[in-house]
Amino acid sequence: MSKVTVVGAGNVGATCANVLVTTQVADEVVLLDIKEGVSEGKAMDIMQTASILGLNTRLKGVTNDYAATEGSDVVVITSGIPRKPGMTREELIGVNAGIVKSVTENVLAHSPNAIIVCVSNPMDTMTYLIHKVTNLPKNRIIGMGGALDSSRFKYFLSQALGANATEVEGIVIGGHGDTTMIPLTRFAAYRGIPASTLMSAEELEKVAADTMVGGATLTKLLGTSAWYAPGAAAAQVVAAVLGDQKKLISCSALLDGEYGEKDLCIGVPCILGRNGIEKIVEFNLNDEEKALFHKSAEAVHKTNAALA
Ligand code: NAI
Ligand code: 2OP
Repeated sequence: MSKVTVVGAGNVGATCANVLVTTQVADEVVLLDIKEGVSEGKAMDIMQTASILGLNTRLKGVTNDYAATEGSDVVVITSGIPRKPGMTREELIGVNAGIVKSVTENVLAHSPNAIIVCVSNPMDTMTYLIHKVTNLPKNRIIGMGGALDSSRFKYFLSQALGANATEVEGIVIGGHGDTTMIPLTRFAAYRGIPASTLMSAEELEKVAADTMVGGATLTKLLGTSAWYAPGAAAAQVVAAVLGDQKKLISCSALLDGEYGEKDLCIGVPCILGRNGIEKIVEFNLNDEEKALFHKSAEAVHKTNAALA
């Protein structure tokens, strides 16, 4: 029996729950929100697709009833406010820190062994906050940002190449912020062929630039932040953990010297399995990438300082 709780039944949380149910990743999913009736309604709507799609995962919606989340293997935290056009993720810190702290305490009271996946923004800082309030082993707290940013990178890369998005490779590390993320263009590839040999340096730089403002572009178009890819990316992280997939996914992890940084959570390549972050994969960044990563870490430290 596997059980997942998704906290926050807003755009991202409900989409994550929907993907978990339609891909049948867990036996049981609980969707919890503070707003009366919202999670019950969304869960019922999603479950009414079960007979159409032939689904066996059970989804239940609850209003702030943490007893229903008892014994969850993985808890995804999406509760909090999203950004509006013109806002940065960092501006959400004041409101979201209080929400993330209380939600974390509540979920752990009922699922003391859960792996926690943090989605709420500013995500690197919220992931760090969860470490600070729980003191859990570092493998058990995963920040979801790089999975989404890498997926956006692959989308823009596939568009530029006229390729199928499943056949291109690309990874984004660093902070989950418009100016802090680092799409690693050096390693972008199409079926193993370096993207740099298939397009001009300017075209590849545009792919990276579009990726970095990918979230802001959608926020401007939608009037709020995106949810389909964020929800699916969170579900991808859950699937890697529950399925013990040993997949390499860029996640925000607590660093203790890796990549020359410590005492912060920031996006690095991680192997995900049943124990959460089972390994941080370290590889040699070139001087330019090292400088970008250090600058990104400095920006994340600065946002973390606002927690005090
Ligand atoms: P939303 O406003 O649609 O949903 C948030 C939900 O959280 C609401 O339903 C609200 O009632 C609920 N909530 C608030 N306080 C709560 C509490 N104490 N307990 C339980 N539920 C509570 O927002 P959306 O679009 O779903 O975004 C959620 C968060 O995820 C935002 O902070 C957003 O910035 C972040 N985000 C992060 C991404 C990432 O890659 N890490 C990508 C997209 C969004
Ligand atoms: C996104 O990247 C705002 O984190 C959110 O869409």
